[in-house]
Amino acid sequence: MEIRVRWRGLDRETLTLPGVKLRYLLTKENIDFPFPCGGEGLCGRCKVKFLENPPLPTRVERRLLSSKELEEGVRLACCAVVEESTEVELLGGGTVVPPDFLLDLADLAVSGPPPREGAFSCALDLGTTTLALSLLEVTRGSRVSVEVMTNPQRIWGEDVVSRMGASLEGKGRDLAGVIWDLLLPRLAGASYLVVAGNAVMETTLAGYPVDSLARYPFQAPFPGGEWREKPFPHYFMPLVGRFLGGDTAALLLVLDLVGAEKPALVLDLGTNAEVLLLTPGGIKAASAPAGPAFEGVGISSGIGLSPGGVTRVEMGGGELIFHTLDGGPPRGFCGSGLLSLVALLLREGVLEPSGRIREKGELAPFWRDKRGEAGLILDAGLILTQEDMRKVQLAKAAVASAWRVLLSLEEVEGELALYVAGAFGSSLTLEDLVVLGMVPSQVRRFVPMGNASLLGAEVVALSHSCMERVEELVRGVEVVDLALWEGYQEVYLECLGFSG
Ligand code: FES
Repeated sequence: MEIRVRWRGLDRETLTLPGVKLRYLLTKENIDFPFPCGGEGLCGRCKVKFLENPPLPTRVERRLLSSKELEEGVRLACCAVVEESTEVELLGGGTVVPPDFLLDLADLAVSGPPPREGAFSCALDLGTTTLALSLLEVTRGSRVSVEVMTNPQRIWGEDVVSRMGASLEGKGRDLAGVIWDLLLPRLAGASYLVVAGNAVMETTLAGYPVDSLARYPFQAPFPGGEWREKPFPHYFMPLVGRFLGGDTAALLLVLDLVGAEKPALVLDLGTNAEVLLLTPGGIKAASAPAGPAFEGVGISSGIGLSPGGVTRVEMGGGELIFHTLDGGPPRGFCGSGLLSLVALLLREGVLEPSGRIREKGELAPFWRDKRGEAGLILDAGLILTQEDMRKVQLAKAAVASAWRVLLSLEEVEGELALYVAGAFGSSLTLEDLVVLGMVPSQVRRFVPMGNASLLGAEVVALSHSCMERVEELVRGVEVVDLALWEGYQEVYLECLGFSG
């Protein structure tokens, strides 16, 4: 029997089954709510008030809340389990952020039976910067919630190269351990987990050293596509290649399930950029290290996907207008906001095609610090430096050089469709991507996909035939290793500018 949860002041209502943690419902409704200790039940600050039918307090709640609070229906969002219909007030405040799914489970034809028995299962998008964990109700084939968390491996560095460095220094066990420490408490109630991550992420989580990924003859020690039972039953999506992981396999599965048109270029813009070319003759795939700029990380005013994160920049009344993830004041850039800004500055002539910031311009004051560093002051607290621009250019060149190589190997006539995975698709326009030189000029149709890595893992968690299909798709991919491709460095250097 379904129960109904109303959210006081948010004009939101959730239908769910009894016995679900309140924190899952918050993420299901895309409500951004602070969990200061990461939901570990330590700080007692994630307070909510059940205005009707408060659940029985847990041991942690009895320890961290006063008896008056407990009597008034105050509970902790990370502990409370909703058993009856109720109305909930978020005492720490909460804002609704737009979902990053442009495609959803309902858009995909998923058929059972599931790969294993169980009423609930989980799917994980194991990203270099963030993890997205989805809880699924297997019998209904539906998603209960998605929780997005910072990848705890970031203490060893922001990108895959630094994680490989940590693994080479003997930290492999720790790299896997911090992920499981984060996941295991969240997997309670689920029967199994499906993991989709890039090659380095999956390889480290599976407990393999990654040195052979980093050294000639560059081989993947772990192919994925297999079940493990410890420390929790989980299936790794198959790796597509040395640097094309299970996240790319998940993306391929989603494209297959939606019947993607061909020819098409497919981009997945992350710390490692994956570029696919789909033609009636087959699938070619390449991967290039783009650095963390696409995640809005490692740049002066970058904050990634956080409240106040700028996702898009526009001109209005001669001024820059910043659109943020949650509609609040701008606090820093997400990757999409950074690219949107750079595209706008290129259109307005504030940036030269070489990427150099012009000293004259009315849009934003130009400055130079004592060391000679140049930059623009964009808004209160937001800046863009020449060094930031260099990082954007390196990331852009990684993508553009990859598709240039793929297109040089395959004769593609006429127009191309463009599929973009990740949060970028919802904020960037095709015009932005063309101005940045990130897509070829023959692209005509732009299809934003949302988090296809998570979506692909979810359908595998729901359907055994999808699991078989993804393994079949991966076997058919021709992987182009850019590091071994003659003339790649020249192509990459040519792609650093913004002239196309
Ligand atoms: S987030 Fe700290 S106790 Fe809930």
